[in-house]
Amino acid sequence: ERGLHEHFMMKEIHEQPDAVGRALRGRLDERFHTVHLGGLNMDAREAREIKRVKILGCGSAYYAGQMGAQFIEEVARIPADAEPASEFRYRNPVVERDTLYIAVSQSGETLDTLVAVQELKRKGGRVIGLVNAVGSSIARAVDGGVYLHAGPEVSVASTKALTNMAVAFAMLGIHLGRIRDVSPADGRRLIEGLKKLPEHIQSIVDQEEELAKIAGQLAKHESLFFVGRTRGYPVAREGAQKLKEISYRHAEAYQTSELKHGPLALISPDVPSVAIVPQDELLDRNIGALHEIAARSGPLYVVTHPGVDIPDGVAAKIVVPKNEPELDPILLTIPLQILAYYAAVALGHDVDKPRNLAKSVTVE
Ligand code: BG6
Repeated sequence: ERGLHEHFMMKEIHEQPDAVGRALRGRLDERFHTVHLGGLNMDAREAREIKRVKILGCGSAYYAGQMGAQFIEEVARIPADAEPASEFRYRNPVVERDTLYIAVSQSGETLDTLVAVQELKRKGGRVIGLVNAVGSSIARAVDGGVYLHAGPEVSVASTKALTNMAVAFAMLGIHLGRIRDVSPADGRRLIEGLKKLPEHIQSIVDQEEELAKIAGQLAKHESLFFVGRTRGYPVAREGAQKLKEISYRHAEAYQTSELKHGPLALISPDVPSVAIVPQDELLDRNIGALHEIAARSGPLYVVTHPGVDIPDGVAAKIVVPKNEPELDPILLTIPLQILAYYAAVALGHDVDKPRNLAKSVTVE
């Protein structure tokens, strides 16, 4: 049921505070400052032996995987990366015994991801799933996993499932980190950050009207950049993906640091940039990049934190609440969902049924 909302996508955007609350429920351990994930089927000794993490998913699940890889490597200090499952399964990958493989999927039925899991199992790899749909094919195929508890997601463009994927990766990263070298103080800091997410997400959703106006401006452009770096880069990729999926505008995500090595040539008054500029250790460099874009008359839509001094003359400044730096990507993504939604609405597209796309792709 869509309820009061015109589209499932907006209904699901609004459900995110509750969805995140459900994902966290019963899993946070305030005594040992860690997270319990009952379905992992992996004891502490096995968890300590993990030398590497490889995350596999498709579409938004792959971008959530990039967020997860960043979190796990940064917090648990285990080398981690994400790869599209659709590529992994076809390239005869080396499967290592001490690598933890993680399959991410909302539906649990995406065939490319399922076949990647089957290929891993065939070669003796240990695979866990981060899956929303209980009892789905991927949930049944893996050795253990974390259910997302986002509730049913109808909109083709994923919102609450992606958010819960990122939250589940954070919980997994804290769990693995606290078995290793993350201190109780850091564990507590991150758990406090997780607990604030529902309220922080709500305050972004409350900016809907303002974001709708900004989206109307954005939608006028045929082609856009989304730029971010390190933690902000998967956010930029997901933002560009969402806009492409439902507004059919061309959007390209780029590392802010790489702009000067090429795409700066394309910046002009016709090609705006949505820039992810968190209050973190890269702030000065990110601000420098904004000046580079502004100097080429590129319109700037900046997603940032309270108190960040953005150059004058930007087209829009969107402010999200500051959380712990490692958790920032989860919040920075939310306004991009709302921008994509209202850009599509402004252009008159059927948000819930984007052309050429299906909610879950169960063919090769
Ligand atoms: C795609 C959908 O084909 O599958 C995307 O259009 C989605 O929205 C992707 O992110 C992966 O789906 P799932 O169910 O495996 O998370």
